[in-house]
Amino acid sequence: MADRPAEHLKLYIPGPVEVHPDVLDAQARWMYGHRMPECADLVERVEPKLQAVFQTERPVLISASSGTGLWEGASRNCVRSRVLHCVNGAFSERWAEVSALNGKQVEVLSAEPGRAIKADAVAAALAGGSFDALAIVHNETSAGVLNPLAEIARGVRALPGGDEIVILVDAVSGVSGVDILPDAWDLDVVLTSSQKAFALPPGLSFCSVSERAVARAKTVPDRGYYFDFLTLLASLEKHQTPATPAISLLWALDVQLDRILAEGLSNRFARHMRMRDRTIEWARDRDFTLRAEPGYESPTVSCIDNTYGWDIGALNRFLRTRNMILGNGYGTLKNITWRIGHMGELDVPDIDELLGALDDYLAQDGARAGA
Ligand SMILES: Cc1ncc(COP(=O)(O)O)c(C=O)c1O
Repeated sequence: MADRPAEHLKLYIPGPVEVHPDVLDAQARWMYGHRMPECADLVERVEPKLQAVFQTERPVLISASSGTGLWEGASRNCVRSRVLHCVNGAFSERWAEVSALNGKQVEVLSAEPGRAIKADAVAAALAGGSFDALAIVHNETSAGVLNPLAEIARGVRALPGGDEIVILVDAVSGVSGVDILPDAWDLDVVLTSSQKAFALPPGLSFCSVSERAVARAKTVPDRGYYFDFLTLLASLEKHQTPATPAISLLWALDVQLDRILAEGLSNRFARHMRMRDRTIEWARDRDFTLRAEPGYESPTVSCIDNTYGWDIGALNRFLRTRNMILGNGYGTLKNITWRIGHMGELDVPDIDELLGALDDYLAQDGARAGA
C-alpha cells in the first residue's frame, strides 16, 4: 500500500470501482467536437469492441447517462403496454417503479432479496397474463444474487406466444464480469453501466438491442427523446450519438475495451469467480452467512449477513485507516448485511488484502460480539 497515494481509497464497494491509471489518463486527452471526424472515428473504433465484450452481433447503443437512464429507455421503447418485472432486491424493485412512472402497466413477480427468481415461476406468471415484455435484473447487486437467466429466457421462449415477449435485462453489475450471451440466449435488451465490472468511471451506459427490440420500438409511439432507441441507432450507424456524447469517457472506454479483450472474456469471468469463491470461503470459515441462496451467489458482489451486529460505519472507519472501503447493505438490507464488491480491476490478492484487514477487525476486543 506504500505505493498508493493517500487520496486513493481502494474501493471494495459494488460500484464505482477501481479504475486502471491508463484508463483514468485516457480521459485527459484534448477535446474534439462531436461532429468532427475524430469523434466518429472513436465511436467507429469502440463499437465492434463493445459488441465483442457484450458477446453480440447486434448493435450496442452508447448513452451518456448511468444505467438508470437505459432502464427508462428499455421500458419506454420496448414495453407496449404490460410488463412483468421480476423483483428480488432493491434495484429490480426500482426498475419496476421506473416502468410504472413511464406509464406502463406493471405486474411484479417477487422473491425475497437473496432468493433467486426461478424459470418455472417466471413462465407461470407470464402464462397468467397478456404481457408483452419481461424485465429482469441478472445480477441483483443489493443482495448479491445471480438469477438463472439462460434458463428463464428458454422458459419464456417455450411459452405459446413466447416469441413475442421482449426480454429486457439489467446486467449493470454483470457485463464483462459474468458470462451473459444476448444472442445465444435470445435476450432483447441487455443494459449495463460503465462503473461496475467494466471498471470505467461512472457516466456511460450501454445496451445491446435485438431485432425484436427494434421492431417493438417501431410500434411504440411514445418513446421519449433522449433514450429513443431508434434515433440512437440511426446515429450509431453514422458513428455518432444524437446528442453530445461524454467524449472523455469514450476515450477511457476505448482503452478499457482493449484491456478487457486482451485479458480475454473467459479469463475475466474466471477471475471474478475466483474472487467470489475466496470471499465465500473466508466468510463461511468465520461463521458468516451469505444472503444469496446457495448456488446463486453473484460472481461480482457478495452480500454478507451482519452476523456480529457490526456498526458498518465504524467498520469502514477502521478500513479507511488502511485506505480501503467496502459497501453497507442496500435498501431493506442496509446495516443487516454488508457487501464486498469484487469486480473490475481487482484480483484475489486484492481480496486477500481486504479479508486480512477484516480478520484484524475481527480480532479486536468485542468484534465478535458486535462492537
Ligand atoms: C443491478 C443494478 N441496476 C441498476 C443500477 C443503477 O445503475 P446506475 O447507478 O448506473 O444508474 C445499479 C446500481 O448500483 C445496479 O446495481
